[in-house]
Amino acid sequence: MTEKNLNSNEWGNNLSFILAMIGSAVGLGNIWRFPYVLYSCGGGAFYIPYFVAVLTLGIPFLILEYGMGYNFKASFPKGLRTINKKYEFMGWILPLSIFGVSIYYCVIIGWIVIYVVLSFYKGWGDNTDKFFDQTILQSSTTGTNWFIVWFVSHKQLEKGIGRFNKILVPSLFVIMFFIVIYSLTLDGASIGLKILFKPDWSLLKSFSIWTSAYGQVLFSLSLGYSEAYTYAGYTGRDTDLVTSAIITTIANCGFENFCALGVFSVLGHMSKVKSTAITKLVSQGTGLVFIAYPAVLNILGKLAYVIGPAFFLSVLFAGLTSMLSMIEPFSFSIQNKFTWSRKKTATIEIIFGAICSMLFATGYGNELLGHVDNYINNVLVLFSIAIECYIFSWAFDIKRAMRTLNDRSKSIKLGWWWLAIIRVILPIIIIVIWFGTLYEMFSN
Ligand code: PFF
Repeated sequence: MTEKNLNSNEWGNNLSFILAMIGSAVGLGNIWRFPYVLYSCGGGAFYIPYFVAVLTLGIPFLILEYGMGYNFKASFPKGLRTINKKYEFMGWILPLSIFGVSIYYCVIIGWIVIYVVLSFYKGWGDNTDKFFDQTILQSSTTGTNWFIVWFVSHKQLEKGIGRFNKILVPSLFVIMFFIVIYSLTLDGASIGLKILFKPDWSLLKSFSIWTSAYGQVLFSLSLGYSEAYTYAGYTGRDTDLVTSAIITTIANCGFENFCALGVFSVLGHMSKVKSTAITKLVSQGTGLVFIAYPAVLNILGKLAYVIGPAFFLSVLFAGLTSMLSMIEPFSFSIQNKFTWSRKKTATIEIIFGAICSMLFATGYGNELLGHVDNYINNVLVLFSIAIECYIFSWAFDIKRAMRTLNDRSKSIKLGWWWLAIIRVILPIIIIVIWFGTLYEMFSN
Protein backbone atom coordinates (compact mmCIF):
# COMPACT_ATOMS: atom_id res chain seq x y z
CA MET A 1 0.00 0.00 0.00
CA THR A 2 1.41 3.37 -0.91
CA GLU A 3 1.52 6.40 1.34
CA LYS A 4 -0.77 8.15 -1.13
CA ASN A 5 -3.48 5.57 -0.57
CA LEU A 6 -3.21 5.90 3.17
CA ASN A 7 -3.85 9.60 2.97
CA SER A 8 -6.36 9.80 0.16
CA ASN A 9 -9.99 8.85 -0.12
CA GLU A 10 -9.15 5.57 -1.82
CA TRP A 11 -8.99 1.93 -0.76
CA GLY A 12 -5.47 0.75 -0.04
CA ASN A 13 -5.89 -2.16 -2.46
CA ASN A 14 -8.51 -4.33 -4.21
CA LEU A 15 -8.83 -6.65 -1.24
CA SER A 16 -9.96 -3.75 0.95
CA PHE A 17 -12.67 -2.89 -1.55
CA ILE A 18 -13.92 -6.47 -1.94
CA LEU A 19 -13.93 -7.12 1.81
CA ALA A 20 -15.71 -3.82 2.46
CA MET A 21 -18.35 -4.78 -0.11
CA ILE A 22 -18.75 -8.26 1.36
CA GLY A 23 -18.88 -6.69 4.83
CA SER A 24 -21.68 -4.43 3.67
CA ALA A 25 -23.60 -7.20 1.93
CA VAL A 26 -23.29 -9.84 4.64
CA GLY A 27 -25.40 -8.53 7.48
CA LEU A 28 -28.56 -9.13 9.45
CA GLY A 29 -30.35 -9.59 6.12
CA ASN A 30 -28.41 -12.81 5.53
CA ILE A 31 -28.62 -14.25 9.01
CA TRP A 32 -32.14 -13.49 10.09
CA ARG A 33 -34.00 -12.47 6.97
CA PHE A 34 -32.97 -15.01 4.37
CA PRO A 35 -33.76 -18.29 6.24
CA TYR A 36 -37.25 -17.04 7.01
CA VAL A 37 -37.90 -15.73 3.51
CA LEU A 38 -36.71 -19.03 2.01
CA TYR A 39 -38.96 -21.01 4.33
CA SER A 40 -42.06 -18.84 4.00
CA CYS A 41 -41.80 -18.29 0.25
CA GLY A 42 -42.09 -21.84 -1.00
CA GLY A 43 -38.95 -23.53 0.43
CA GLY A 44 -37.03 -25.26 -2.37
CA ALA A 45 -39.33 -23.63 -4.95
CA PHE A 46 -38.06 -20.20 -3.86
CA TYR A 47 -34.73 -20.96 -5.53
CA ILE A 48 -36.29 -20.33 -8.94
CA PRO A 49 -37.22 -16.66 -8.35
CA TYR A 50 -34.11 -16.25 -6.19
CA PHE A 51 -31.68 -17.32 -8.91
CA VAL A 52 -33.58 -15.37 -11.55
CA ALA A 53 -33.23 -12.33 -9.26
CA VAL A 54 -29.49 -12.96 -8.74
CA LEU A 55 -28.93 -13.20 -12.49
CA THR A 56 -31.16 -10.35 -13.63
CA LEU A 57 -30.77 -7.95 -10.70
CA GLY A 58 -27.92 -8.98 -8.39
CA ILE A 59 -24.91 -9.30 -10.66
CA PRO A 60 -25.89 -6.91 -13.52
CA PHE A 61 -27.06 -4.13 -11.22
CA LEU A 62 -24.07 -4.43 -8.92
CA ILE A 63 -21.84 -4.06 -11.98
CA LEU A 64 -23.87 -1.00 -13.00
CA GLU A 65 -23.53 0.65 -9.57
CA TYR A 66 -19.79 -0.11 -9.52
CA GLY A 67 -19.33 1.23 -13.04
CA MET A 68 -21.22 4.44 -12.31
CA GLY A 69 -19.49 4.98 -8.97
CA TYR A 70 -16.11 4.62 -10.59
CA ASN A 71 -17.11 6.75 -13.56
CA PHE A 72 -18.25 9.76 -11.50
CA LYS A 73 -15.98 9.41 -8.48
CA ALA A 74 -18.38 11.73 -6.71
CA SER A 75 -21.29 11.36 -4.32
CA PHE A 76 -24.57 9.97 -5.66
CA PRO A 77 -26.41 13.34 -5.82
CA LYS A 78 -23.40 14.97 -7.47
CA GLY A 79 -23.07 12.12 -10.00
CA LEU A 80 -26.76 12.33 -10.92
CA ARG A 81 -26.53 16.10 -11.15
CA THR A 82 -23.76 15.70 -13.71
CA ILE A 83 -26.20 13.76 -15.90
CA ASN A 84 -28.99 16.25 -15.40
CA LYS A 85 -29.71 18.85 -12.71
CA LYS A 86 -33.24 17.55 -12.21
CA TYR A 87 -31.96 14.14 -11.03
CA GLU A 88 -30.07 15.58 -8.06
CA PHE A 89 -33.17 15.37 -5.87
CA MET A 90 -33.45 11.63 -6.46
CA GLY A 91 -29.75 11.45 -5.69
CA TRP A 92 -30.41 12.63 -2.13
CA ILE A 93 -33.38 10.34 -1.41
CA LEU A 94 -31.46 7.05 -1.51
CA PRO A 95 -28.45 7.99 0.66
CA LEU A 96 -30.89 9.56 3.10
CA SER A 97 -33.12 6.45 3.12
CA ILE A 98 -30.24 4.14 3.93
CA PHE A 99 -29.09 6.50 6.66
CA GLY A 100 -32.67 6.23 8.00
CA VAL A 101 -32.43 2.43 7.88
CA SER A 102 -29.14 2.62 9.83
CA ILE A 103 -31.00 4.33 12.68
CA TYR A 104 -33.06 1.24 13.46
CA TYR A 105 -30.38 -1.20 12.29
CA CYS A 106 -28.19 0.19 15.05
CA VAL A 107 -30.90 -0.43 17.63
CA ILE A 108 -30.83 -4.11 16.73
CA ILE A 109 -27.05 -4.19 16.87
CA GLY A 110 -27.46 -2.72 20.36
CA TRP A 111 -29.56 -5.72 21.38
CA ILE A 112 -26.98 -8.06 19.88
CA VAL A 113 -24.31 -6.51 22.10
CA ILE A 114 -26.47 -7.33 25.14
CA TYR A 115 -26.92 -10.92 23.95
CA VAL A 116 -23.17 -11.33 23.45
CA VAL A 117 -22.76 -10.61 27.15
CA LEU A 118 -25.79 -12.69 28.23
CA SER A 119 -24.65 -15.67 26.18
CA PHE A 120 -21.71 -16.26 28.54
CA TYR A 121 -24.12 -17.25 31.31
CA LYS A 122 -27.47 -17.79 29.50
CA GLY A 123 -28.64 -14.61 31.16
CA TRP A 124 -31.94 -14.62 29.26
CA GLY A 125 -33.44 -17.28 31.56
CA ASP A 126 -35.93 -19.99 30.63
CA ASN A 127 -38.57 -17.84 29.02
CA THR A 128 -36.68 -16.21 26.17
CA ASP A 129 -39.86 -14.79 24.72
CA LYS A 130 -40.86 -12.90 27.83
CA PHE A 131 -37.30 -11.79 28.48
CA PHE A 132 -37.04 -10.23 25.04
CA ASP A 133 -40.40 -8.45 25.26
CA GLN A 134 -40.08 -7.20 28.80
CA THR A 135 -36.39 -6.51 29.21
CA ILE A 136 -34.64 -6.11 25.86
CA LEU A 137 -37.27 -4.11 24.01
CA GLN A 138 -37.03 -1.48 26.71
CA SER A 139 -33.22 -1.32 26.64
CA SER A 140 -31.08 1.04 24.72
CA THR A 141 -27.41 0.39 24.14
CA THR A 142 -27.19 2.01 20.76
CA GLY A 143 -24.77 4.67 22.00
CA THR A 144 -21.89 2.19 22.15
CA ASN A 145 -22.43 1.11 18.57
CA TRP A 146 -22.63 4.63 17.25
CA PHE A 147 -19.36 5.29 19.03
CA ILE A 148 -17.71 2.29 17.33
CA VAL A 149 -19.10 3.41 13.97
CA TRP A 150 -17.82 6.93 14.55
CA PHE A 151 -14.43 5.66 15.69
CA VAL A 152 -14.00 3.70 12.45
CA SER A 153 -15.63 5.98 9.93
CA HIS A 154 -14.23 9.37 10.90
CA LYS A 155 -10.75 8.11 10.03
CA GLN A 156 -9.27 8.15 6.56
CA LEU A 157 -10.95 5.45 4.45
CA GLU A 158 -8.30 2.73 4.41
CA LYS A 159 -7.17 3.29 8.00
CA GLY A 160 -10.76 3.11 9.22
CA ILE A 161 -13.34 1.15 7.19
CA GLY A 162 -10.66 -0.67 5.16
CA ARG A 163 -8.81 -2.14 8.15
CA PHE A 164 -11.94 -2.82 10.18
CA ASN A 165 -13.42 -4.97 7.41
CA LYS A 166 -10.13 -6.77 6.83
CA ILE A 167 -10.30 -8.09 10.38
CA LEU A 168 -14.03 -8.58 10.94
CA VAL A 169 -15.13 -10.10 7.61
CA PRO A 170 -12.72 -13.07 7.59
CA SER A 171 -13.39 -13.65 11.33
CA LEU A 172 -17.12 -13.68 10.68
CA PHE A 173 -16.80 -16.28 7.91
CA VAL A 174 -14.57 -18.55 9.99
CA ILE A 175 -16.80 -18.44 13.10
CA MET A 176 -19.99 -19.03 11.08
CA PHE A 177 -18.37 -21.93 9.24
CA PHE A 178 -17.75 -23.82 12.48
CA ILE A 179 -21.16 -22.98 13.93
CA VAL A 180 -23.03 -24.23 10.86
CA ILE A 181 -20.96 -27.43 10.61
CA TYR A 182 -21.66 -28.11 14.28
CA SER A 183 -25.40 -27.38 13.81
CA LEU A 184 -25.59 -29.90 10.97
CA THR A 185 -24.41 -32.65 13.30
CA LEU A 186 -27.18 -32.04 15.86
CA ASP A 187 -29.78 -34.71 16.42
CA GLY A 188 -32.89 -33.77 14.42
CA ALA A 189 -31.04 -31.41 12.00
CA SER A 190 -32.47 -33.27 9.03
CA ILE A 191 -36.04 -32.58 10.22
CA GLY A 192 -35.37 -28.85 9.96
CA LEU A 193 -33.66 -29.14 6.60
CA LYS A 194 -36.49 -31.21 5.11
CA ILE A 195 -39.01 -28.58 6.15
CA LEU A 196 -36.84 -25.76 4.87
CA PHE A 197 -36.39 -27.21 1.42
CA LYS A 198 -39.80 -28.85 0.93
CA PRO A 199 -40.92 -27.12 -2.25
CA ASP A 200 -44.31 -25.52 -2.59
CA TRP A 201 -44.49 -25.00 -6.34
CA SER A 202 -47.96 -23.47 -6.19
CA LEU A 203 -46.52 -20.27 -4.68
CA LEU A 204 -44.55 -19.54 -7.84
CA LYS A 205 -47.75 -18.21 -9.40
CA SER A 206 -47.96 -15.44 -6.83
CA PHE A 207 -46.39 -12.07 -7.63
CA SER A 208 -45.47 -11.51 -4.01
CA ILE A 209 -42.98 -14.43 -4.07
CA TRP A 210 -41.16 -12.80 -6.94
CA THR A 211 -41.20 -9.45 -5.16
CA SER A 212 -39.80 -11.14 -2.05
CA ALA A 213 -37.00 -12.73 -4.07
CA TYR A 214 -36.06 -9.42 -5.70
CA GLY A 215 -36.43 -7.62 -2.34
CA GLN A 216 -34.16 -10.16 -0.65
CA VAL A 217 -31.44 -9.97 -3.32
CA LEU A 218 -31.65 -6.20 -3.25
CA PHE A 219 -31.30 -5.79 0.52
CA SER A 220 -28.86 -8.61 0.97
CA LEU A 221 -26.49 -7.32 -1.71
CA SER A 222 -26.93 -3.72 -0.47
CA LEU A 223 -28.23 -2.65 -3.88
CA GLY A 224 -30.17 0.38 -4.96
CA TYR A 225 -29.33 2.64 -2.03
CA SER A 226 -26.16 3.94 -3.69
CA GLU A 227 -23.93 2.08 -1.22
CA ALA A 228 -22.13 0.00 -3.86
CA TYR A 229 -21.90 3.13 -6.02
CA THR A 230 -20.21 5.02 -3.18
CA TYR A 231 -17.70 2.29 -2.25
CA ALA A 232 -16.80 1.77 -5.92
CA GLY A 233 -16.10 5.49 -6.26
CA TYR A 234 -13.16 4.96 -3.87
CA THR A 235 -11.47 2.34 -6.09
CA GLY A 236 -8.32 2.96 -8.04
CA ARG A 237 -7.61 2.51 -11.76
CA ASP A 238 -6.52 -1.09 -11.49
CA THR A 239 -9.63 -2.52 -9.82
CA ASP A 240 -11.45 -5.18 -11.83
CA LEU A 241 -15.01 -4.15 -11.01
CA VAL A 242 -16.82 -6.87 -12.99
CA THR A 243 -14.94 -9.69 -11.25
CA SER A 244 -15.38 -7.92 -7.89
CA ALA A 245 -19.16 -7.83 -8.43
CA ILE A 246 -19.21 -11.56 -9.16
CA ILE A 247 -17.06 -12.37 -6.10
CA THR A 248 -19.25 -10.20 -3.84
CA THR A 249 -22.43 -11.89 -5.09
CA ILE A 250 -21.06 -15.42 -4.68
CA ALA A 251 -19.73 -14.67 -1.18
CA ASN A 252 -22.97 -13.04 -0.07
CA CYS A 253 -25.40 -15.59 -1.53
CA GLY A 254 -23.19 -18.50 -0.45
CA PHE A 255 -23.11 -17.10 3.07
CA GLU A 256 -26.86 -16.68 3.41
CA ASN A 257 -27.62 -20.15 2.09
CA PHE A 258 -25.04 -21.64 4.42
CA CYS A 259 -26.60 -19.74 7.35
CA ALA A 260 -30.04 -21.04 6.44
CA LEU A 261 -28.71 -24.61 6.77
CA GLY A 262 -27.41 -23.80 10.24
CA VAL A 263 -30.56 -22.02 11.41
CA PHE A 264 -32.91 -24.81 10.29
CA SER A 265 -30.69 -27.59 11.64
CA VAL A 266 -30.82 -25.91 15.02
CA LEU A 267 -34.61 -25.47 14.82
CA GLY A 268 -34.93 -29.13 13.77
CA HIS A 269 -32.93 -30.15 16.85
CA MET A 270 -35.14 -28.05 19.06
CA SER A 271 -38.32 -29.52 17.59
CA LYS A 272 -37.02 -33.02 18.22
CA VAL A 273 -35.86 -32.46 21.78
CA LYS A 274 -38.85 -30.40 22.88
CA SER A 275 -41.38 -32.03 20.53
CA THR A 276 -42.50 -28.63 19.32
CA ALA A 277 -43.78 -28.18 15.78
CA ILE A 278 -41.11 -26.42 13.79
CA THR A 279 -43.64 -24.01 12.33
CA LYS A 280 -44.04 -22.59 15.85
CA LEU A 281 -40.31 -21.95 16.16
CA VAL A 282 -39.72 -20.29 12.85
CA SER A 283 -39.92 -16.57 12.90
CA GLN A 284 -38.36 -13.66 11.21
CA GLY A 285 -35.83 -11.16 12.42
CA THR A 286 -35.83 -10.40 16.09
CA GLY A 287 -37.89 -13.51 16.88
CA LEU A 288 -35.35 -15.84 15.35
CA VAL A 289 -32.15 -14.36 16.73
CA PHE A 290 -33.36 -13.19 20.12
CA ILE A 291 -36.06 -15.70 21.02
CA ALA A 292 -35.67 -18.99 19.15
CA TYR A 293 -31.87 -19.08 19.17
CA PRO A 294 -31.42 -18.45 22.93
CA ALA A 295 -34.14 -21.08 23.55
CA VAL A 296 -32.07 -23.59 21.59
CA LEU A 297 -28.90 -22.60 23.47
CA ASN A 298 -30.78 -23.35 26.68
CA ILE A 299 -31.06 -27.01 25.70
CA LEU A 300 -27.53 -27.41 24.35
CA GLY A 301 -25.75 -27.95 27.65
CA LYS A 302 -22.14 -26.85 28.25
CA LEU A 303 -21.31 -26.35 24.60
CA ALA A 304 -23.80 -23.49 24.53
CA TYR A 305 -21.25 -21.38 26.42
CA VAL A 306 -18.97 -21.55 23.38
CA ILE A 307 -21.52 -21.65 20.56
CA GLY A 308 -23.64 -18.85 22.07
CA PRO A 309 -20.97 -16.14 22.36
CA ALA A 310 -19.47 -17.19 19.00
CA PHE A 311 -22.85 -16.92 17.31
CA PHE A 312 -23.79 -13.53 18.75
CA LEU A 313 -20.31 -12.18 18.15
CA SER A 314 -20.48 -13.15 14.48
CA VAL A 315 -23.93 -11.54 14.14
CA LEU A 316 -22.44 -8.43 15.75
CA PHE A 317 -19.54 -8.38 13.26
CA ALA A 318 -21.98 -8.82 10.37
CA GLY A 319 -24.15 -5.98 11.67
CA LEU A 320 -21.33 -3.51 12.31
CA THR A 321 -19.69 -3.91 8.91
CA SER A 322 -23.07 -3.37 7.20
CA MET A 323 -23.86 -0.44 9.46
CA LEU A 324 -20.64 1.32 8.44
CA SER A 325 -21.63 1.10 4.80
CA MET A 326 -25.10 2.50 5.55
CA ILE A 327 -23.87 5.84 6.76
CA GLU A 328 -21.22 6.26 4.06
CA PRO A 329 -23.40 7.33 1.06
CA PHE A 330 -25.03 10.19 3.00
CA SER A 331 -21.76 11.17 4.61
CA PHE A 332 -20.02 11.34 1.23
CA SER A 333 -22.94 13.32 -0.23
CA ILE A 334 -22.61 15.95 2.51
CA GLN A 335 -18.84 16.07 2.15
CA ASN A 336 -19.22 16.72 -1.57
CA LYS A 337 -21.98 19.29 -1.24
CA PHE A 338 -20.58 21.41 1.56
CA THR A 339 -16.88 20.55 1.19
CA TRP A 340 -16.78 19.41 4.81
CA SER A 341 -14.05 17.07 5.98
CA ARG A 342 -14.70 13.37 6.48
CA LYS A 343 -14.12 13.80 10.22
CA LYS A 344 -16.55 16.67 10.65
CA THR A 345 -19.29 15.03 8.55
CA ALA A 346 -19.02 11.66 10.30
CA THR A 347 -19.13 13.35 13.71
CA ILE A 348 -22.24 15.42 13.00
CA GLU A 349 -24.06 12.61 11.16
CA ILE A 350 -23.35 10.11 13.92
CA ILE A 351 -24.44 12.40 16.75
CA PHE A 352 -27.70 12.96 14.88
CA GLY A 353 -28.11 9.23 14.15
CA ALA A 354 -27.41 8.30 17.78
CA ILE A 355 -30.07 10.68 19.09
CA CYS A 356 -32.71 9.37 16.65
CA SER A 357 -31.67 5.80 17.40
CA MET A 358 -32.30 6.21 21.11
CA LEU A 359 -35.85 7.28 20.34
CA PHE A 360 -36.33 4.09 18.33
CA ALA A 361 -34.99 1.76 20.98
CA THR A 362 -38.48 1.06 22.20
CA GLY A 363 -41.21 -1.45 21.44
CA TYR A 364 -42.50 0.95 18.83
CA GLY A 365 -39.16 0.77 17.02
CA ASN A 366 -39.44 -2.99 16.78
CA GLU A 367 -42.87 -2.74 15.22
CA LEU A 368 -41.64 -0.14 12.80
CA LEU A 369 -38.88 -2.46 11.73
CA GLY A 370 -41.35 -4.92 10.20
CA HIS A 371 -43.01 -2.18 8.16
CA VAL A 372 -39.76 -0.64 7.01
CA ASP A 373 -38.48 -4.06 6.05
CA ASN A 374 -41.54 -4.87 3.97
CA TYR A 375 -42.45 -1.58 2.41
CA ILE A 376 -39.28 0.48 2.08
CA ASN A 377 -37.31 -2.48 0.86
CA ASN A 378 -39.73 -4.43 -1.30
CA VAL A 379 -41.69 -1.48 -2.58
CA LEU A 380 -39.84 1.83 -2.50
CA VAL A 381 -36.27 0.82 -3.18
CA LEU A 382 -37.23 -1.87 -5.67
CA PHE A 383 -39.00 0.78 -7.68
CA SER A 384 -36.03 3.11 -7.44
CA ILE A 385 -33.90 0.41 -9.09
CA ALA A 386 -36.04 0.74 -12.21
CA ILE A 387 -35.52 4.52 -12.15
CA GLU A 388 -31.76 4.14 -11.67
CA CYS A 389 -31.67 1.75 -14.64
CA TYR A 390 -33.40 4.38 -16.73
CA ILE A 391 -31.14 7.27 -15.67
CA PHE A 392 -27.85 5.39 -16.00
CA SER A 393 -28.58 3.48 -19.16
CA TRP A 394 -30.77 5.82 -21.21
CA ALA A 395 -30.00 9.33 -19.99
CA PHE A 396 -26.25 8.64 -19.82
CA ASP A 397 -23.69 7.23 -22.26
CA ILE A 398 -23.58 3.78 -20.70
CA LYS A 399 -21.54 2.27 -23.54
CA ARG A 400 -18.54 4.39 -22.58
CA ALA A 401 -18.75 3.16 -18.99
CA MET A 402 -19.08 -0.39 -20.33
CA ARG A 403 -15.85 -0.06 -22.29
CA THR A 404 -14.03 1.13 -19.15
CA LEU A 405 -15.39 -1.84 -17.19
CA ASN A 406 -14.39 -4.26 -19.96
CA ASP A 407 -10.86 -2.85 -20.23
CA ARG A 408 -10.34 -3.81 -16.61
CA SER A 409 -12.23 -7.07 -16.50
CA LYS A 410 -10.15 -10.22 -16.29
CA SER A 411 -13.23 -12.45 -16.28
CA ILE A 412 -16.52 -11.84 -18.08
CA LYS A 413 -16.72 -9.13 -20.74
CA LEU A 414 -19.91 -7.13 -20.79
CA GLY A 415 -21.85 -7.03 -24.03
CA TRP A 416 -25.32 -6.68 -25.51
CA TRP A 417 -26.72 -9.09 -22.92
CA TRP A 418 -25.77 -6.77 -20.07
CA LEU A 419 -27.18 -3.73 -21.84
CA ALA A 420 -30.38 -5.64 -22.58
CA ILE A 421 -30.80 -6.59 -18.92
CA ILE A 422 -30.15 -3.10 -17.58
CA ARG A 423 -32.01 -1.17 -20.25
CA VAL A 424 -35.06 -3.35 -20.80
CA ILE A 425 -35.37 -6.69 -18.99
CA LEU A 426 -34.77 -5.58 -15.38
CA PRO A 427 -37.00 -2.47 -15.48
CA ILE A 428 -39.82 -4.49 -17.09
CA ILE A 429 -39.56 -7.31 -14.54
CA ILE A 430 -39.58 -4.83 -11.66
CA ILE A 431 -42.54 -2.87 -12.94
CA VAL A 432 -44.55 -6.05 -13.64
CA ILE A 433 -43.94 -7.64 -10.22
CA TRP A 434 -44.36 -4.31 -8.50
CA PHE A 435 -47.80 -3.62 -9.94
CA GLY A 436 -48.70 -7.32 -9.65
CA THR A 437 -47.95 -7.28 -5.93
CA LEU A 438 -49.94 -4.08 -5.42
CA TYR A 439 -52.84 -5.68 -7.30
CA GLU A 440 -52.65 -8.79 -5.10
CA MET A 441 -52.50 -6.66 -1.97
CA PHE A 442 -55.65 -4.75 -2.85
CA SER A 443 -57.61 -7.66 -4.28
CA ASN A 444 -57.18 -9.78 -1.13
N1 PFF B 1 -26.86 -5.96 3.12
C1 PFF B 1 -27.15 -5.66 4.49
C2 PFF B 1 -27.77 -6.87 5.16
O1 PFF B 1 -27.98 -7.89 4.49
O2 PFF B 1 -28.06 -6.81 6.35
C3 PFF B 1 -28.03 -4.46 4.65
C4 PFF B 1 -27.64 -3.25 3.86
C5 PFF B 1 -26.42 -2.62 4.08
C6 PFF B 1 -28.52 -2.75 2.91
C7 PFF B 1 -26.07 -1.48 3.35
C8 PFF B 1 -28.19 -1.64 2.16
C9 PFF B 1 -26.95 -1.00 2.39
F1 PFF B 1 -26.66 0.04 1.68
